[in-house]
Amino acid sequence: MRGGLSKTLALVGAAGLLAVSACGNSDNNSGGSGSSANKDVTVFTWWADGGEKAGLDGLVSTFATDCKDYKFVNSAVAGGAGSNAKQVLANDLQAGKPPSTFQAHAGAELKDYINAGQVDDISQLYKDFGLDKAFPQNLIDNLTVDGKIYSIPANVHRANMVWANPTVLKKANIDGTKAPASVDAWIADLTKLKAAGVAAPLAISKGFAQEMLVEAVLLAELGPDKFKGLWDGKTDWAGGDVTAALNKYKTLLTFTNSDREAIDWPDALGYVNTGKAGYTLMGDWVAAQQVSDKIADTAYTYWPSPGTEGDFQFLSDSFTLPTNGADPDGAKCWLKTVGSAEGQKAFNTKKGSIPARSDANPADYPKYQQSAMADWKSKTIVPSCAHGAACTLGQNNDILSAMSQFSGSPDVAKLQAAFGTAMKTS
Ligand code: GAL
Repeated sequence: MRGGLSKTLALVGAAGLLAVSACGNSDNNSGGSGSSANKDVTVFTWWADGGEKAGLDGLVSTFATDCKDYKFVNSAVAGGAGSNAKQVLANDLQAGKPPSTFQAHAGAELKDYINAGQVDDISQLYKDFGLDKAFPQNLIDNLTVDGKIYSIPANVHRANMVWANPTVLKKANIDGTKAPASVDAWIADLTKLKAAGVAAPLAISKGFAQEMLVEAVLLAELGPDKFKGLWDGKTDWAGGDVTAALNKYKTLLTFTNSDREAIDWPDALGYVNTGKAGYTLMGDWVAAQQVSDKIADTAYTYWPSPGTEGDFQFLSDSFTLPTNGADPDGAKCWLKTVGSAEGQKAFNTKKGSIPARSDANPADYPKYQQSAMADWKSKTIVPSCAHGAACTLGQNNDILSAMSQFSGSPDVAKLQAAFGTAMKTS
């Protein structure tokens, strides 16, 4: 982690001191202090704790083997979905102090950095590292802007997942192994749980978690095609179907914890694990968090959010080469690790995500990721706005402030108008 909003850890990768770089230019000492093995590669993420940190550690161990000339410096800023990190990064980039590489979501979110001239075109690295063949074409398309590629994807996460505590659900005779068939059926179950004494059966946290919940309801109610249209301008935000979906979201919010504006996603998950709540909706980084928190497989169940069984709402973490970064050769070695089969395995087996590469062997992965790999191939793929696949940073910021206003005083017409404006103007 780094200074400012969080403490500096400056974790040093277990890189050996000598040996020849697997991909870097070992006689370039810029950014280093004499010995080339001391050349720092500052990696900016928001993976500071728990399962996220475990994933990052996996990448770091591969980097240590593959990039022995370089030293990993952890520049993570804690806070789910980059809620703190993105602002810190924006300031650093603005001040002309980029890290060696930073995390950004594949898709629309990258456009902000591209338009600001803050990231380099790395299309050539795809050829150098053989990545043009390793990733599925639809993901490459998502990363390509005007024929150029600006980042290397480390993974694919699924956003539309609910994590449940079957013991809590039993209190209202609800079978925790099966997803309710629709948002309405879920509301019926939440009503039963409340009547059975579970005061806030749906655990939720601030900001992006609420955005994810509203997206899940829109996806369920509108279906994948109209849902995609919300983000590319083909679906009218002012439609009656959107109003109806937002009203269901408003109802869902009445079943959530009143401290939702004060907690982050691991806390909401904790409410489920400790039996305070029955469900939380969150991306599948939860699978890694459960391992990190040592929650037994039998203590929880998971399924796609009600009404979205056939859809895989995706997002992809990718890494960039910032313009005028301190040691581009070290950064390129990090990028090579990120795209490599070994790096993706070391990362994704620990992160709850699945590899972006198409050549992974499911047998190498935990049970959850095996099912996600199968779903990635068979379900309808739709993008996440909260995690940058469908929305720019500006759009997301506007939506996040509308979500937090709604949490304080739920006004569907206002929220609906704010979504429409955010997608048109920011
Ligand atoms: C997302 C990111 C995931 C996970 C999550 C929660 O934006 O893509 O990898 O870290 O935030 O922090």
